[in-house]
Amino acid sequence: MIRSVNKFLSVSGKGMKRSAIREILKHLQKPGMISFAGGLPAPETFPVEDLKEIVAEVLEKEGAEALQYGTTEGDPGLRKALAERHRKQGLEVGIENLIITTGSQQALDLIARIFIDPGDYVLCGLPSYLGGLNAFTAYGVKLKGIPLDAQGMNTDALEETIHHLTGLGRKIKFIYVIPDFQNPAGITLPEARRLKIIEIAEKYDLLVVEDSPYREIRFRGEAQRMMYELDKSGRVITL
Ligand SMILES: Cc1ncc(COP(=O)(O)O)c(C=O)c1O
Repeated sequence: MIRSVNKFLSVSGKGMKRSAIREILKHLQKPGMISFAGGLPAPETFPVEDLKEIVAEVLEKEGAEALQYGTTEGDPGLRKALAERHRKQGLEVGIENLIITTGSQQALDLIARIFIDPGDYVLCGLPSYLGGLNAFTAYGVKLKGIPLDAQGMNTDALEETIHHLTGLGRKIKFIYVIPDFQNPAGITLPEARRLKIIEIAEKYDLLVVEDSPYREIRFRGEAQRMMYELDKSGRVITL
């Protein structure tokens, strides 16, 4: 029997909205559907054969250990390999700086859980990734959208908004930036714009959440340096 549990929901549970993404994705299950509304990876790019080999190899080498509970931060071998990979990309990252999450979405939720008090402000691009915004609002965030121009988040508008909100006594926690192929606008921020956002974050002592799931899917041109790499004051969290 299904009972209504609404009256038992916590404040943050009540703050959660039905996910528009989930609703869109339901329609994508229909065979032959090509949707321009919600993005799914092309299944022919999934490395099924490679994964079969890898799974067989891991089970052969590690056996039961591979299936046992692991540490919360993630498998140390995987974190070590990731740290090495990031160091090759120029980031100063050690295993202690990394945790493994189930995609970027879980990291967005964890960040909100750790850093947000109800009523805190988060500054984000206007428009911005719906799943990120939903993760934040579930914890009582007040969102303030900063208009985008051809180079991404408009930094004059960003600074004006910070002035305005702090003048009203509001607490801003972080700036949420999607610097590479921004979802949904598709814009990639040039380095100067990245640096300017970091400079503003430093000036007003804010965190920056850099959400960059598409950075490595590039067909032409040069990848921009990550904000995590450009930041010298340790205030960028990158996903
Ligand atoms: C900007 C952005 N962040 C995070 C996510 C979620 O990423 P993941 O599938 O790794 O949880 C998406 C997926 O659409 C996204 O576009």
